[in-house]
Amino acid sequence: MKIWHPFTQEKTAPLPLKIVRGDREYLYDEAGNSYIDMISSWWVNILGHSKPEIADAIAKQAHVLEHVIFAGYTHEPAEELVDILSQHLPKSLSKFFFSDNGSTAVEVALKMAYQYFLNKGINSRDIFVNLEGAYHGDTIGAMSAAGVNSEYHSKFKKFFFETFSIKFPKNTEDEVTSIDKLQQFLKQNHQKVCALIVEPLVQGAAGMKMYSPEFLDKIVETVRRYDILVIFDEVMTGFYRTGTMFAMNQTQNIPDIVCLSKALTGGFMPMSLTVTTEDIYNAFWSDDWSKAFIHGHSYTANPLACAAACATQKILQRSEIKQNIQQISETHKVRLAELSSKDILTHRSCGTISAIDLSSVALAKHIAKVMLQNGIIIRPLNNTIYFIPPYCISQQNLHKAYDLLEGHLGHDV
Ligand SMILES: Cc1ncc(COP(=O)(O)O)c(C=O)c1O
Repeated sequence: MKIWHPFTQEKTAPLPLKIVRGDREYLYDEAGNSYIDMISSWWVNILGHSKPEIADAIAKQAHVLEHVIFAGYTHEPAEELVDILSQHLPKSLSKFFFSDNGSTAVEVALKMAYQYFLNKGINSRDIFVNLEGAYHGDTIGAMSAAGVNSEYHSKFKKFFFETFSIKFPKNTEDEVTSIDKLQQFLKQNHQKVCALIVEPLVQGAAGMKMYSPEFLDKIVETVRRYDILVIFDEVMTGFYRTGTMFAMNQTQNIPDIVCLSKALTGGFMPMSLTVTTEDIYNAFWSDDWSKAFIHGHSYTANPLACAAACATQKILQRSEIKQNIQQISETHKVRLAELSSKDILTHRSCGTISAIDLSSVALAKHIAKVMLQNGIIIRPLNNTIYFIPPYCISQQNLHKAYDLLEGHLGHDV
């Protein structure tokens, strides 16, 4: 095998399945077997696979302009995309910086926040506050932002910048303790803190861990007392995953910076955006070159990716998609409430995401295997099984996933 696959122990993992085609919620392998993509291929394909309108938009754009350097040049697909997103984002988030993926959207946010203070003549603010269990991507800055205790990245901690982790609350009493500890830390250290970074409402890679908008609002209000910036990493939660266009639509407070990627282009092209306020932008606006944001990627705002994103965002606003999102959310709630097995520790849902913590990692692995044999793709996170389907999934297929899960609980593995 010449290809080295991501997040894979190559020695012990089964050989990768060769996928040759996608259509709506289905993926097809070489032998013609179909699979329901219950995880939207790492949470990106919100509208399903090979959506013709998105494919056509990319093809049309490819015949006109496939790419152009974005420093000193602009183009229609980028401008159109920004206009579309501006209709859905809070008015205060009005400055759009393009990059290529979720990790770079986070890197941009971190660097922007840090340089914001530098440009204002403040060079003491270099600590970031995060929420325990966070995942913000795999580049060094994004790993650092998640903190030294990250189960994915701790072996690289030598390279990390300093962070303070807010304890993830298990219940409302816990929330009070978490906020108290944050307050104590800030009393001593607030002049050293640059920004808070959080995945709002749902921590994806941590195992779809969910927390309340009220808790998030409390965190934000606590840090804002000290002029600390607020970054929402909506790379996973954006574009109706949590039921609303953005998770921030469920909170009282709006962040200073938001990171968007994954579903932005409907899973067709890699692209991301870091969107911020006029206030932050103005701190970079200067006759002095050194105050500019010296950051960019070769493929920044690639026109094909922008065309894919414009098509995706237009489809996303259709009433039938909104109805599907509503139905998926309802089905999650109903089916989770009906689950009853000694193998289930807890379950939860938020919008189109549902998660079930099982009694062991081995059981989660076993169920993933059985599901695959029965034509459903899932990818457990430790002992957590989760469903995060494309919005086009039929109710029949969603029920099929729950039926299979139910059918395989309560047996010895
Ligand atoms: C919340 C969050 N932020 C950032 C990332 C990194 O995105 P990417 O894999 O596109 O670099 C992810 C990826 O899963 C994520 O879930």
